[in-house]
Amino acid sequence: MNVVILDRAERAEEFAAAILLSQIRNEPFSKLGLATGRTMEGIYSHLVQANRDGLDFSQLLTFNLDEYVDLSPIDVCSYRYYMNEYLFDETNIEPENTFIPRGNPISLQQEVQEFRNKLREVGSIDVQLLGIGENGHIGFNEPPSLFGSETRVVTLSDETRMQNLDAFGGVLEDVPKRAITMGIKTILEAKKLVLVATGRHKSQAVHDAVEGPLRASLPASAIQLHHDVWVILDEAAAQDLNLTAYYRSHTKNNQLAEEYRTFITKYMR
Ligand code: F6R
Repeated sequence: MNVVILDRAERAEEFAAAILLSQIRNEPFSKLGLATGRTMEGIYSHLVQANRDGLDFSQLLTFNLDEYVDLSPIDVCSYRYYMNEYLFDETNIEPENTFIPRGNPISLQQEVQEFRNKLREVGSIDVQLLGIGENGHIGFNEPPSLFGSETRVVTLSDETRMQNLDAFGGVLEDVPKRAITMGIKTILEAKKLVLVATGRHKSQAVHDAVEGPLRASLPASAIQLHHDVWVILDEAAAQDLNLTAYYRSHTKNNQLAEEYRTFITKYMR
């Protein structure tokens, strides 16, 4: 596992963006797995800038991890709206190449099935971006989530609903109780995982995901089963890790990490 610890959140966002951007540069037809949330906002601003600077996104296919049940795509609190606002409307990604489950379909089961079918049809996602919840969720795979789970409808924990309260004007009743999410198995099928966490409030979940035992009650620990994982952190989110000296020296000596650093100085600053 590649654990990269950077001095502040902006550097972590930049590094994560560099992984995505070098992927797009090398393979303009890439399939990207995307996430929403506060952590992703800075990452998407780098993608928007790169697109403005001439990097073409028109051949990309994108798949989002999740969507709230009952919210329509034009609801300002929906993840479709978020993605349009932070990335899709600001770049030349083709709208028909962006896939996010609909939160208010006629049949949820059919929506789930169609999303599963679409993922199967296109094959593996090249790079899957992940945030992490304070309770260790990835996507909306709440504890406990089976490592064999696929895209499905889930019940959101009260903890997660509280974490997302701000987006709903502070009214808990307005935060949906269910979501559609890619499953853990689906996430692990991506060729590369990039998990990004910033801030002290994430440090326990990061420790449990990276160094703790594998368990359904800490869904993010499933990343330990993958063969190509990048965990990008700021110092605050790395605070509870035990093996930081090792991670730092590994990053220093890692050829690919060096390439991402070069990418940043060459194309992003
Ligand atoms: C949302 C998603 C979630 C978030 C996580 C962290 O699409 O996948 O797992 O990544 O809840 O959210 P923030 O970044 O807002 O702390």
